[in-house]
Amino acid sequence: MTDNNALIDEIRAILRNRSRKAYVRSFGCQLNVSDGEKIKGLLKKMGYEYTENENETDLIFHNTCSVRENAEDRVFGIVGSMKHLKELNPKLVIGISGCMTAQAHIPDKIRKSYPQVDFVLGTSAIHSLPELLLNALRGQKFSADTEEYAGFSEGVEQVRESSFKASVPIMFGCNNFCTYCIVPYVRGRERSRRAEDIIREVRELAEQGYKEIMLLGQNVNSYGKDLEGGIDFPQLLRRLNEIDGDFVIRFMSSHPKDASRELLDAIFECKRVAKHLHLPVQSGSNEILKKMNRRYTAEEYLEIVDYLRRRDPDFSLTTDIIVGFPNESDEDFEATLELIKRVKFDNIYSFIYSKRTGTRAAEMEDTISDETKSLRMRRLLETQREISTEHYKRFMGRKMRVLAEGESKRSKGFLTGKSNEFIIAEFSGDSSLIGSFVDIEVTETKNWAVIGKIIEK
Ligand code: SAH
Ligand code: SF4
Ligand code: F3S
Repeated sequence: MTDNNALIDEIRAILRNRSRKAYVRSFGCQLNVSDGEKIKGLLKKMGYEYTENENETDLIFHNTCSVRENAEDRVFGIVGSMKHLKELNPKLVIGISGCMTAQAHIPDKIRKSYPQVDFVLGTSAIHSLPELLLNALRGQKFSADTEEYAGFSEGVEQVRESSFKASVPIMFGCNNFCTYCIVPYVRGRERSRRAEDIIREVRELAEQGYKEIMLLGQNVNSYGKDLEGGIDFPQLLRRLNEIDGDFVIRFMSSHPKDASRELLDAIFECKRVAKHLHLPVQSGSNEILKKMNRRYTAEEYLEIVDYLRRRDPDFSLTTDIIVGFPNESDEDFEATLELIKRVKFDNIYSFIYSKRTGTRAAEMEDTISDETKSLRMRRLLETQREISTEHYKRFMGRKMRVLAEGESKRSKGFLTGKSNEFIIAEFSGDSSLIGSFVDIEVTETKNWAVIGKIIEK
């Protein structure tokens, strides 16, 4: 690897008398957002300032996602429209990073069809940013680094978007190969960070006053399996729980096949860990789950739910669901509706199946029409809306601790935030409270949030 400090110095020298505004836009999941924060950290070291206005910038970064086709189409649309910006400002540098770049055909497609793009930076190549940027600043037409490096960007300082919520990746990659999913192909195999590094980072964030720490991984439940003599995820939670400070720990995502009793017990026993679990089920049909290679049955999923609800009848759960997987029958879809009615999720994130070239599901024959898929999606959302409306009523009159996150867009004078249970809460309050925990009493429940008033201490 080249000496990055020397390259960074060189970039600083080139940029000395120039405008140095950078705009970084991350698509997709929170892991990508976290990578975007590392890119911003490196850009800051090179002397760039960050702007939210892409029309007055000297460097534009699109940190892409490829989990569904429409996410990719959107990026190509946006990059296409960058052509005129480059015509207006020939010194503008455009870089593309993120998961799209890891598909073999994409860097070539960008080079041939989008000459306005200066460089392509692969998902595990963030450390190569200074080298690629320098190429662009020296006038090189196109360069790319999409190698899969074994390590990851440990030690790259992040420019965090929030001063009170922080995400901390604990592992990268995925070994599960769910048949519909492109992530294992674009993010490589599972690599866990060392527990000491994670603990140190969380301790520093707590000292800086961060109030919410979100641990990230495609399947946090397999954390540590690739480390010799390392600790597992429930043990990591217990270690992080001991750190001093006033903060809540969340994590995402958990694969149901690995959601062990130890994990569920750790959630209950660690006071800092939020009493909420995001547990993607994808489908309620065993036939479809098998075709998806999820390696659990609906019954096994419900066993986890029952254990949680036995310990706390109000325990909060959210999930991901895919509708219209190849040849999902009416019965399969009804099984999904049955499952969501049985579980009573607080919220579901639902997606229409999107065919991803290179995955196993892309080879499966698919006879379901787009119309049927849309219809199923509508029914799923309607059913969930009824469930949420009913299920949120359990919070009526209850006291909740909420992290105030910002001003409500719906009601003037109101703040919005999330409760420990991951429920959106809106309440009247002064904007000076943003970034701190407040206690509220719930006075009204809706299907998307609870409304409350602050309890004076
Ligand atoms: N690792 C996480 C999910 C990451 S992707 C997990 O396993 O929970 C987030 C969600 O996108 C998935 O849970 C799935 O519901 C959805 N998804 C992934 N690939 C998809 C595809 N090809 N079409 C539609 N939805 C998809
Ligand atoms: Fe994709 Fe499955 Fe891995 Fe999640 S666990 S990232 S859905 S392959
Ligand atoms: Fe998208 Fe990559 Fe995340 S494909 S969902 S940005 S891991």
